[in-house]
Amino acid sequence: MMTSGVPVIEAQDLKRFYQLPTGPFSKPATVRALAGASFTLQAGKTLAVVGESGCGKSTLARVVTMIEPPSEGSLTIAGMNASAGPRGHDAKALRLAVQIVFQDPYGSLNPRQKIGTILEEPLVINGSADAATRRTKALDMLKKVGLRPEHYDRYPHMFSGGQRQRIAIARALMTQPKVLVLDEPVSALDVSIQAQVLNILTDLQTEFGLAYLFISHDLSVVRHMADEVMVMYLGRPVEHADRDSLFGRPLHPYTRALLSATPVADPTARKERIRLSGELPSPLKPPSGCAFHPRCPFANDRCRVELPALHVEGSDLAVACHGVREGRIAA
Ligand SMILES: Nc1ncnc2c1ncn2[C@@H]1O[C@H](COP(=O)(O)OP(=O)(O)OP(=O)(O)O)[C@@H](O)[C@H]1O
Ligand SMILES: [Mg+2]
Repeated sequence: MMTSGVPVIEAQDLKRFYQLPTGPFSKPATVRALAGASFTLQAGKTLAVVGESGCGKSTLARVVTMIEPPSEGSLTIAGMNASAGPRGHDAKALRLAVQIVFQDPYGSLNPRQKIGTILEEPLVINGSADAATRRTKALDMLKKVGLRPEHYDRYPHMFSGGQRQRIAIARALMTQPKVLVLDEPVSALDVSIQAQVLNILTDLQTEFGLAYLFISHDLSVVRHMADEVMVMYLGRPVEHADRDSLFGRPLHPYTRALLSATPVADPTARKERIRLSGELPSPLKPPSGCAFHPRCPFANDRCRVELPALHVEGSDLAVACHGVREGRIAA
């Protein structure tokens, strides 16, 4: 966002809608799963995405990895236009530039393939290396994620969850992507295993200069991993800030509520708590104005009618809140 560097992802007002059938005689309803996200991600940096279940994190992940095209908005990956998916003369380079690691290490590896085959598959598809080179690269990558050469001939069921997630990470890195999208990569793992996988991710990021789009609901993990944090609410970023700024001086009432609900708060930080009351509204029927207003203790008439834009408030943060802009909500 504010840091200068080489942008590997540039997203401008990215949106993704889904049509839901509502009955045989009525028009389908539109789910605005991603309602407009703008951000940049720099090489070597980690942008964490946080927010309650259903706020559009995985939808953003699918759009950024070109699994699904955006309904609107523009997406640039490593300087290439990715808004229409991997097409045209950049198709191959685009496909190689971004990879994804999912939450579930059990569902993401083909149980009938040996680890070596799993790791080499992206290279086979890409057609860029002969068998001997592929094997060397796979063995090298196994080592980088803390596994051993003899694991090359084993099957996924012979590994623990943490090991499988390392294999998924190794596979994602085989084609030397610039960006890794990590959708809750350690959420399914035992807490004791999480740190190992996170440390491997940190080492790999340094070694390859990788950019991470790191999705997690665990704020202590985010605090450990992120350079910047984007907080999403009902499909939109409501605050985007440097890690220290976000955890030390959260501005948006929703960010404050999320931090209040989680015992990771800095002991030196303010103790004022905001309770998150009421349910998360449906993205089928988002509230008028600021989508957070029905749950916000500071909401007024303006908040109920006018959608606040994400506004840059300082060198290291942007926030979408009328109250913060007007000074009604003290920082
Ligand atoms: N293929 C789809 N068709 C219809 N609605 C969808 C589809 N995919 C996602 N949605 C809806 O879009 C919204 C955002 O979903 P998404 O999976 O992106 O949320 P999330 O932030 O990843 O949640 P979680 O933390 O539970 O993983 C949800 O309301 C979800 O029901
Ligand atoms: Mg998700």
